[in-house]
Amino acid sequence: MKIRAEKGLTFDDVLLVPRRSPVTSRRLVDTSTSLTPQIRLAIPILSANMDTVTEARMAIAMARAGGLGVLHRFMSVQRQVEQVRQVKRAQGHIVENPYTVGPDTPLHQAEEQMRHLDVGGLVVVDEGERLVGMLTQRDLFLAPHDHLSVRDVMTPAERLITVGPDISPQEARAVLYQHRLEKLPVVDEEGRLVGLITAKDVMKAAQDPQATVDEKGRLRVGAAVGVTPGELERAQALVEAGVDLLVLDIAHGHADHCLAQLRELRRRFPETPIAAGNVATREGAYDLAMAGADAVKVGIGPGSICTTRIVTGFGVPQLTAILESVAGVQESGRQVPIIADGGIRTSGDLVKALAAGAHTVMIGSLFAGCEEAPGAPVLRDGQKVKVVRGMASLGAAIHRRLAEQGEDESAEDPQDWDKVVPEGVEAVVPYRGHVHEILQQLVGGLRSGMSYGGARTIPELQRHAEFIQITPAGVRESLPHDVHRI
Ligand code: XMP
Repeated sequence: MKIRAEKGLTFDDVLLVPRRSPVTSRRLVDTSTSLTPQIRLAIPILSANMDTVTEARMAIAMARAGGLGVLHRFMSVQRQVEQVRQVKRAQGHIVENPYTVGPDTPLHQAEEQMRHLDVGGLVVVDEGERLVGMLTQRDLFLAPHDHLSVRDVMTPAERLITVGPDISPQEARAVLYQHRLEKLPVVDEEGRLVGLITAKDVMKAAQDPQATVDEKGRLRVGAAVGVTPGELERAQALVEAGVDLLVLDIAHGHADHCLAQLRELRRRFPETPIAAGNVATREGAYDLAMAGADAVKVGIGPGSICTTRIVTGFGVPQLTAILESVAGVQESGRQVPIIADGGIRTSGDLVKALAAGAHTVMIGSLFAGCEEAPGAPVLRDGQKVKVVRGMASLGAAIHRRLAEQGEDESAEDPQDWDKVVPEGVEAVVPYRGHVHEILQQLVGGLRSGMSYGGARTIPELQRHAEFIQITPAGVRESLPHDVHRI
C-alpha cells in the first residue's frame, strides 16, 4: 500500500493565472484542434456517447458547429449503422446512392415515397441504373394524378443537365447557378447514375464553413463500441457505413481485455481512427497509446451522473487525471491527443481542461437538455426539463437488458434487478434549447479565456498555462457573492 504525496486536483481547485496578451480581439483566436492525428475540429468539443445525449440528430448539429458527436452503443448494430448513415447523408458534395424510382411506378406511389423519405425529388432510373429522368415536387404538384406513371410527368434525361463524377464542388456550384438548377444528377460514362448534387447541399456547406466534414464534404461522426467479441462485428458494420471514428469505450479502459480489443480493432481497421478509454493515470494513457489508440479518453468518475467513485472508491480528480495522461502519452512517443471526458460544467472548466493539455473535451449532461438530445422535454414544477442518465445507472441497465432479452419474461423479474450495482444516476436537467446556443457560450468563453492566457491557439494556451491552486475561500470568491441574484 502507498499513499501518493501529491494532491489530486480538479477544476474548482485551481485558476489560471492571467498573463500579458498579444490578443487584441477574441475573434482573432483560433480554437481548432486535433481530435486524432487524422481529424481536425474547428472547436474542441465532443458530445458524449450516452443514450440521453448523442444520436444522429445531436451528431449532425455537433459536426455542423465544428465539433463531433459520438453515437452511443446501447442500441442494435443495425440502428447504430442507420444513424451513421443518417449523419453521412445529411450533407455532402455529392449524395451517393440518391433515392430513385422506376419510370413505370404509378405517380401516387412515387409521391408517397417522396413524403416517406422526406425528399423533394427522386431520380428516375431503369433496371440498369441508367438515368432516364427526374421527378420533383413541382411535377407532382402540377400533374393530374389518375392513371399516370412517373414517365408521364418526369423531366426526361434528354432535357436534364448532368455532370461526371470528377466534378469539383466549385464547378458544380457554377453549373447549378448557370442553369438555375436545384438538382444535378451525376452519371458515369455509360450513363449510369452515380450520385446527385443539390443546391441545398452547396448552401449548407457555405452556411457552415467550419463544419467537421470528410473529403467528400459529408459530416463526420464517431460511434462507440464495446469490449466483448461481438463488438468487433459492430465495428465492422460501422466502418462499412463510413464512420469516421471508432470509440472503444469502457468504464475501466486500463484493463487487459480493453487493450486486447484495441489491438484487434487496430489490426482489423488500420485506416480508421480509433479513440479508447477511459483511463485516469499516466500508465493507463501510456498503455492505450502503445496499443494503437489515436486518441485517449480520460475520466474516471468526474461525470455529473457518475457514482463510480462512491460505489468503488476509485477515481482521480479530473485535472490531475488530464495532466497525468498527457505525461503518459508523451512517454509513449506517439502523437496521441487527449479527450477530457466528464465534469465540464462551464466554459471555465473547458479552458482549464485544454490548458492542462487536453485537445478536446467530451460533454454529457450539459448537452442532455438540448433539443437535439434524444427524448422529449417534460414539464416539472412548471419548468421544461429533459432526462439524463449515467450509462451505468439502474435505468440504463434495465433498458439494455430488456432490449437484449426481448420478450423474455424473466427480464421483468424485479428480484433480478437487485444484482445490478449501478455506478451512475438518473436525473433531470433544464431544457436548454438548441445545442449551437450552448456551444456559442462555451466557445465564446474559451476565446475570452485564451485572450487572458495570451494565446492565439490552443497549443499556445497549453505552453503558457500556469495554474494556481486555490482555497475554499478562493472558490467562494470566484462565485457571485454578497448579492441577491436575479
Ligand atoms: P458529464 O459531466 O459531461 O460527463 O455529464 C459525461 C461522461 O460521464 C461518463 N459516464 C458515466 N460515468 N457512471 C460513470 O461513472 C455512469 O453511469 C456514466 N455514464 C456516463 C462518460 O464518460 C460520459 O462521457
